[in-house]
Amino acid sequence: MIGFKFYITTPIYYVNDVPHIGHAYTTIAADILTRWHRIKGKEVFFLTGTDEHGKKVQEVAESKGKQPKEFVDGIVKSFKDLWIKLNISNDDFIRTTDADHEEEVKKVLQELFDKGFIYKGHYESYYCVGCEQYLTRSDLVDGCCPLHKKEPELKKEEAYLFKLSSFQDQLLDLIENDKLQLLPLSRKNEMLSFIREGLKDISISRKKSEVYWGIELPFDKEHTCYVWVDAFWNYITGLRKNEKFWPPEVQLMAKDILRVHSTIWISLLLALKLKIPKTMFVHGYFTVDGKKMSKTLGNVVDPKELSEKYDVDALRYYLFRGIPFGQDGDFSEKVLIERYNSELADSLGNLINRVLVLTEKNFNGNVPQPTEKDKLSELCFETMEKVNSSMGNFQFHNALNDIWHLISESNKYINDNKIWEIEDKQKLGNLLYNLLETLRFVSILTYPFIPETAENIMEQLGLEKKFSFDDLKWGKLESGKKIKRGKVLFQKIK
Ligand code: MSP
Repeated sequence: MIGFKFYITTPIYYVNDVPHIGHAYTTIAADILTRWHRIKGKEVFFLTGTDEHGKKVQEVAESKGKQPKEFVDGIVKSFKDLWIKLNISNDDFIRTTDADHEEEVKKVLQELFDKGFIYKGHYESYYCVGCEQYLTRSDLVDGCCPLHKKEPELKKEEAYLFKLSSFQDQLLDLIENDKLQLLPLSRKNEMLSFIREGLKDISISRKKSEVYWGIELPFDKEHTCYVWVDAFWNYITGLRKNEKFWPPEVQLMAKDILRVHSTIWISLLLALKLKIPKTMFVHGYFTVDGKKMSKTLGNVVDPKELSEKYDVDALRYYLFRGIPFGQDGDFSEKVLIERYNSELADSLGNLINRVLVLTEKNFNGNVPQPTEKDKLSELCFETMEKVNSSMGNFQFHNALNDIWHLISESNKYINDNKIWEIEDKQKLGNLLYNLLETLRFVSILTYPFIPETAENIMEQLGLEKKFSFDDLKWGKLESGKKIKRGKVLFQKIK
């Protein structure tokens, strides 16, 4: 049962390079959920940020001849700017180089050490710098990391280890019984079999001579903290003074980082007797025109460029319309344009324009008087119920599908009733009222996905730009109020 407070997180992204469409995808998804729960009256805290330490970032900065901090400051700016551009309504942005974060991580490391969860030993394992993760022999494909296609380093080193193995049974119990809910279900099963194979203690430190760009261990100045332990703590330090939100209701991520989250992250919390997150939702991976997105192939999709070329809402809409959230999907600019033209410009844009023009022409721009409800009001109500249930189950594509069904039925309603031919003012007024009310429903329901457009619709209806699920009640639109028709919402792309 979801409570009144709602804490949602995205992974914090590595700053070895500027953001790409995968980062934008997770962050927009978190924004959609945030906006949805806000209109449902919850107090939401939405956190995102950047993961700035570790070998990967250190190596890139070195290759550019820059000091790591100087290098990451530039990249962090491009993340922050992008989130503003994409209308991301995060409450805070955490950087793992923030002084308060670093301080807190040191305290936590000391506590874990004092309580005996961290001990000195030797560690041997394969390590992929691209993933900043350890791999088991069975993870390797032709001796290489399947994601980065590189041979991992075989590391044997003196290190501080975290007693991950001692949490195995507790983790199994939590996941099996959904006390930590892993979604979709296939991910839960995948993690259960991974954990059943046995968890080893993991190294949580690096020799400073190798990785100097990290938080120093408070109990041994020759070592820095493993980037993941540092990174996980963002979810706590990023709340700053808002501890009341703990624990997270939803943590979003892709499949690449579920394993570390569902094992190391949760065990760290268990070790410190802290409450654990309720749900981790794992979405799929994007390919581009059927191919893996990679710098080498030169097909990395830049969300900034796309949002400038088209429209922010068009991008937000496209990303969640076609691909079921939770499954892998393919990014195609061609499909984006097709959906923009047919679903945004033709279906939605035309509906708004037709209804407002008819209201201006026949009623001087005043909302007419309704006389009776009909199937359109029933459909609005049904759509609201369906969207509510889909959003509760992370089924964004179903929610959009139902909203667009309502939109196309509204267009059909205009055509079937041949509205433009009706001379009886009362009858025409009623039909137009029903359509204007439907537009108000559409505006509220689409708000989490395409907030700018939703605000624009509200404005054109002559209403305040306020969004609340409670306003999804038929008949709230007052007769006699003036509409304010504005410019056409989506210009078709040739
Ligand atoms: N820094 C770690 C996370 C630490 S969280 C405590 C990290 N960073 S990352 O920059 O590599 O971001 C990984 C996340 O970005 C994925 O889990 C996913 O949310 C998103 N995506 C990165 N590439 C993606 C795709 N190609 N497709 C979809 N999402 C992707 O891992």
